Amino acid sequence: MKLNSDISAIVTGGASGLGEATARVLADRGVKVGLFDMNAGRGRKVAGEIGGVFAKVDVSSADSVDEGLDFVRAAIGQERIMINCAGIGGAMKTVSRKRDTGEIMAHDVTYYTRIININLIGSFICASKSAAGMMTLGPTAPDGERGVIISTASVAAQDGQVGQVAYSSSKGGILAMALPMARDLANEGIRVNTILPGFYETPIYEQMKPAVKESLNAHLQFPNRFGQPGEFGELAAFMCENVYINGEYIRTDAGARMPPR
Ligand SMILES: NC(=O)c1ccc[n+]([C@@H]2O[C@H](COP(=O)([O-])OP(=O)(O)OC[C@H]3O[C@@H](n4cnc5c(N)ncnc54)[C@H](O)[C@@H]3O)[C@@H](O)[C@H]2O)c1
Repeated sequence: MKLNSDISAIVTGGASGLGEATARVLADRGVKVGLFDMNAGRGRKVAGEIGGVFAKVDVSSADSVDEGLDFVRAAIGQERIMINCAGIGGAMKTVSRKRDTGEIMAHDVTYYTRIININLIGSFICASKSAAGMMTLGPTAPDGERGVIISTASVAAQDGQVGQVAYSSSKGGILAMALPMARDLANEGIRVNTILPGFYETPIYEQMKPAVKESLNAHLQFPNRFGQPGEFGELAAFMCENVYINGEYIRTDAGARMPPR
């Protein structure tokens, strides 16, 4: 798909980090961009800076997504691109043993469900509802392409570490749904792909102690640094532009393969 001012896109999680960077890359190419995020202050600021629009949307709520889609489509037109970046992290073991008392505790189910709801179900809701809208548009030449959906998983979809059972479940689900979704939407000319980032310099890592960051650096092969969000945005744009990438995933991780801990 050629990226230009004829194209509208929605980026979820667009107020921060990878989503914000992706929104900026698309806007630089002339694309009209709508942002979905829970962080309204930051979302409005980014939207203002890139000439886009912002909707306060909780991606895990179908009603909230419907409202956001109505609002953004009225402002910039039906999107041909949906990029799912909204997500949360979190760490908890399947079963934990309290250090001081030795008490054994199963994983908090509410916590597990929250991560699945936002990361996995949120990505699914946005993808499905966006595809339904894309199907109302005519196909573009020369291949009859109507749209493209990209969701953000994580290397934890494949190399989940100790404590990542909930996060990895959510990201593994995102990875697994791309191929059947691409097959479901093939006749409509809508492509579906996934990006698996390693470690990117975003607010997710702001709280991290330098020693922990240093230990993560040890897993990076080349280049030996965290990724810059703009590098993720450029990859997302490339996956939008290249019509032959479909039902596919790309790891962007400086060659890192994560060990158990
Ligand atoms: N940064 C990394 O290194 C890295 C690595 C692997 C995967 N990821 C994934 O990339 C995505 C973006 O991460 P990031 O590093 O940019 O994080 P971030 O915290 O900077 O951005 C995430 C954004 O999602 C928004 N959000 C959270 N819950 C939401 C909800 N229910 N509805 C709408 N918006 C919501 C937040 O407000 C925030 O603006 C996440 O899915 C994350 O799991 C990031």
